[in-house]
Amino acid sequence: MLRAAVIGTGSIVRFFLESIHQHPRVQAQAVWTRNSEHAAGLADDFQIPEILTSWEALKHHADIDVVYIASPNSLHAGQAVDLLAHGKHVLIEKPIASNAKEAAAVQQAARRYKKIAAEAVTTLYTPGFNALKEAVSRESWNLVQANFSQYSSRYDQLKAGSTPNVFSPDFSGGVLMDLQIYHLHLFHALFGPPAEISYHASLTQEGIDTSGLLTMRYPDKTISAAAAKDVDTEDFIQFQGEGVSLRVPHGVNAGLEAFMDKRGQTRSIVQGPLQERLMDGELDTFCRWIEEGNLEAADRSLSHSVEVMSSADSARAAAGIHFPADRHPRLP
Ligand SMILES: NC(=O)c1ccc[n+]([C@@H]2O[C@H](COP(=O)([O-])OP(=O)(O)OC[C@H]3O[C@@H](n4cnc5c(N)ncnc54)[C@H](OP(=O)(O)O)[C@@H]3O)[C@@H](O)[C@H]2O)c1
Repeated sequence: MLRAAVIGTGSIVRFFLESIHQHPRVQAQAVWTRNSEHAAGLADDFQIPEILTSWEALKHHADIDVVYIASPNSLHAGQAVDLLAHGKHVLIEKPIASNAKEAAAVQQAARRYKKIAAEAVTTLYTPGFNALKEAVSRESWNLVQANFSQYSSRYDQLKAGSTPNVFSPDFSGGVLMDLQIYHLHLFHALFGPPAEISYHASLTQEGIDTSGLLTMRYPDKTISAAAAKDVDTEDFIQFQGEGVSLRVPHGVNAGLEAFMDKRGQTRSIVQGPLQERLMDGELDTFCRWIEEGNLEAADRSLSHSVEVMSSADSARAAAGIHFPADRHPRLP
């Protein structure tokens, strides 16, 4: 049985603990938090024996095999590298790091300490992903359009004058890092790195994007992906080729249900939600890699993450978005 600790007490941690709770081969041992009062509800609800507030206690804990990192973005890479150096496997919430340089440091640490590290990107581990990838690979596509919008209550906080972490330069925030990152992961996984990338965004006074349009150019196709935290509308992905189209009606982060239309015939590629909880797939894959000692599979996933972060860096540069972590990597 693998014993896990989680870092952070935000809403995504609750989803992750629900997946752990039903998994037969992993159990939640501890929550790490800055303030034990923040973790009391989670510990009660999921019968988690320990609440830790000391970083030293977490990294030296003899009964913790794996740590799920769901802190603000700019802390991910530093926490991951330190935990890897102390013999823990790490599953890191998206985005894996602030930039490609930090992501590469996570990969180097995983190689050096021979531990499993991976980025938690639900889209790539959802059960429909392989069927979608295969269907996409059988056709030629000229144009792909996508939308992922989630009006955020934190945008209301921003308008009221505060800077929530998700819109903070210090925490490497913004909609590119929060939502476009799913598009970047999916399109890299389907088509590889683009030849060119551009990004046009609405920025806050501190230079952080609240919505924006990403364009990825390949020799044979163009992808246009919108994402927003300041408006809300229907999410979708639409692939268009000559005489063929493929629609993902609920967008990139909702199970990848998909339909293909060819010569007037519509057929289902991926049906309905194939897993009960959004994070079951990534948790199960991550546990399997640990149990099998499959460092190669995890390393391939990290190479993909580094490439994605490199595209995110290019997109940010195109829109003039800079993080303090770009000048001073937050690494131990
Ligand atoms: N929210 C979602 O639905 C969602 C979905 C998918 C992925 N994610 C990813 O999960 C990560 C966390 O997202 P979130 O929305 O939960 O972020 P958040 O609320 O800004 O922070 C997450 C946790 O980190 C701790 N924290 C907050 N501010 C901190 C600070 N200044 N220094 C150190 N720790 C701090 C808090 O836990 P304590 O107060 O207990 O220390 C907090 O619960 C992000 O990387 C995000 O991209 C989130």
